[in-house]
Amino acid sequence: MNILLVGSGGREHALAWKIAQSPLKRRLVIAPGNPGMEGLGEMRPVKADDAEGLAALAQEIHADLVVVGPEAALAAGLADRLTALHIPCFGPTAKAAQLETSKAFSKGFLQRHGIPTAGYGVYEDVASAKAALDAYSAPYVIKADGLAAGKGVAISPDRADAEFEIERMLGGRFGEAGARVVIEEFMDGEEGSLFALCDGKEAVLIGGAQDHKRAFDGDAGPNTGGMGAYSPAPVLSEAVVAEAHARVVQPTLDGMAAEGAPYRGVLYVGLMMTAEGPKVVEFNARFGDPECQVLMMRLDGDIVPYLLACARGDVSHLPPPPLKPGVVICVVFAAKGYPDSPLTGSIIRGAEQDFGPHVQVFHAGTQRDAEGRLIAAGGRVLSVCAEGADVAEARERAYAAIAAIDWPGGFCRSDIGWRALNR
Ligand code: AMP
Ligand code: GLY
Repeated sequence: MNILLVGSGGREHALAWKIAQSPLKRRLVIAPGNPGMEGLGEMRPVKADDAEGLAALAQEIHADLVVVGPEAALAAGLADRLTALHIPCFGPTAKAAQLETSKAFSKGFLQRHGIPTAGYGVYEDVASAKAALDAYSAPYVIKADGLAAGKGVAISPDRADAEFEIERMLGGRFGEAGARVVIEEFMDGEEGSLFALCDGKEAVLIGGAQDHKRAFDGDAGPNTGGMGAYSPAPVLSEAVVAEAHARVVQPTLDGMAAEGAPYRGVLYVGLMMTAEGPKVVEFNARFGDPECQVLMMRLDGDIVPYLLACARGDVSHLPPPPLKPGVVICVVFAAKGYPDSPLTGSIIRGAEQDFGPHVQVFHAGTQRDAEGRLIAAGGRVLSVCAEGADVAEARERAYAAIAAIDWPGGFCRSDIGWRALNR
């Protein structure tokens, strides 16, 4: 098969690593890719939000399957174009991707279909949004409606801060994404990310992971795209996963099909384990990053049949994907200053050494300079992943690899996996 993989992050490096191992793969083309993927496929400089350019590339290489990593490509309508060209696409249409790209849509959808989530309201002007705060109590949850790279959510400790966030969001801080705000009930509990491979009608679950969204140790500091993850996450027990499949994933697929937007691709369900059971925090229309990295390392066997079956509409004929025993952990090595203003250009040495069979280092924001040296070119730069018999062993291996990478311009959290260790 000829496969086109879209994206350039750690998530896509992990997908490329897994797809490259498939006996079904004849040719793997990656657009735009990153330096870590160089040995895995052919890199083509088409940007992930250039739906037209990507569709043309898929035609040029006679793609049998297009695998879409980031939400930008989905929002730009890549899956719609590919469907019109009869090219199987792993990833939802722009309409179905609204489960991620519009929080107002996804909250309305959850409510219409009786799927458990926090109560909410949607507001377009500052005065009515502020007045609506009367119905809630601290901490207040304020969200920009559209895509804001994981930074469009504020949890405000008091009313003054909540009003400030409303003014900021509706005041143009996020452009179009902030034209409306969602105010939500605060949910108390532990979070987990569950991943469902969907074919438009049904899903097989590929397991779950726990992310670490705050920048610093002890879950302090600003929200980020994710500073580390591990899988399996004890918070997603078998019972929780079964309940989420029955009460969230299947009703979502039924509801989307009934609304004329069948959902194909991976559905990322952010769950909060509340006293009343698991509730949806958010949906994403893509794999999580860095959750994807740990899932790809846990997956025992070929991923391509699953991706293709989702794209074609018959994944429910496949058994749940087999996962390796043990635990995989991922520690994100980020450029100092991330998430607000990452410092780029610093040299990274030792990231491409052989770390042995239990460790993989996936690239995200890396580049090569004129002399071929690896330099930091983004916020989240490397995903250092390790497998082990348990969390402690996986974690020891991941941090040993980090210690062996010489990058004074980087920082990471030192407590990835703490919730699992403290159980
Ligand atoms: P989101 O982008 O919607 O996933 O929100 C980012 C993060 O904010 C989530 O992962 C949660 O940690 C937190 N969060 C979002 N909504 C709520 C809520 N209603 N109650 C508590 N925490 C929330
Ligand atoms: N790690 C969270 C996300 O990908 O949205």
